[in-house]
Amino acid sequence: MIETRNIFKSFGPLAVLKGVNFRVKKGEILAIVGASGAGKTTFLQILGTLDKPDSGEIIFNDTDIALMGKKELAKFRNQHIGFVFQFHNLLPEFTALENVCIPGFIGKRQKKQVQEKATSLLQHLGLNDRLHHKPSELSGGEQQRVAVARALINDPDLILADEPSGNLDSQNARDLYDLFKVLRNDFQQTFVIVTHNEEFAHLADRTIKMKDGIIVK
Ligand SMILES: Nc1ncnc2c1ncn2[C@@H]1O[C@H](COP(=O)(O)OP(=O)(O)OP(=O)(O)O)[C@@H](O)[C@H]1O
Ligand SMILES: [Mg+2]
Repeated sequence: MIETRNIFKSFGPLAVLKGVNFRVKKGEILAIVGASGAGKTTFLQILGTLDKPDSGEIIFNDTDIALMGKKELAKFRNQHIGFVFQFHNLLPEFTALENVCIPGFIGKRQKKQVQEKATSLLQHLGLNDRLHHKPSELSGGEQQRVAVARALINDPDLILADEPSGNLDSQNARDLYDLFKVLRNDFQQTFVIVTHNEEFAHLADRTIKMKDGIIVK
């Protein structure tokens, strides 16, 4: 589904990605592990087209991302990719339900349909009685689950998640991974998940390790 070839990225003098070659198949659940500072988040941002590499190619379903204009890319991202950020980036002024709905509204889908889907996702994630809370009124793990629901609202082909279980206890983490598996089995969605959670790394179809800006195994 996606292939990257020789991705390089520096921030000023700091070389962070040093030739990342990567592939993920449709419907695969892939875990990325590696020490803090290895370049995992940087790579995920590039994979999700939120940031550009200095050099290298990203091929998404046979299309070279570099050939897309800014507007086209934004639309592509809204329709095909769901993000769960490391620091979940919920909008503070909006409720849980509204935060989940926003990417659906941006995608110009029908309001009622988006709200129903958002409600059902939040229920799935155990947040039935938190729909109208704002992020500041939610625990860290609850905010994280809202961010997961938001990533799933447009039925993306690809979900990129950065430490989605970081704030969750083991039961909630297991529920989250079960949900990912159900979505993969039922809808052939593809997951690339950065995690330090050993248990999850074992549940994934494949685990790759990043070290100092390259994939080492
Ligand atoms: N915008 C930036 N400007 C300068 N340096 C950056 C920037 N973003 C990341 N870095 C540096 O790049 C390196 C890789 O960062 P990255 O966030 O990709 O690491 P990571 O593997 O996700 O680590 P963690 O497990 O701690 O989240 C780090 O040394 C970081 O300090
Ligand atoms: Mg990170």
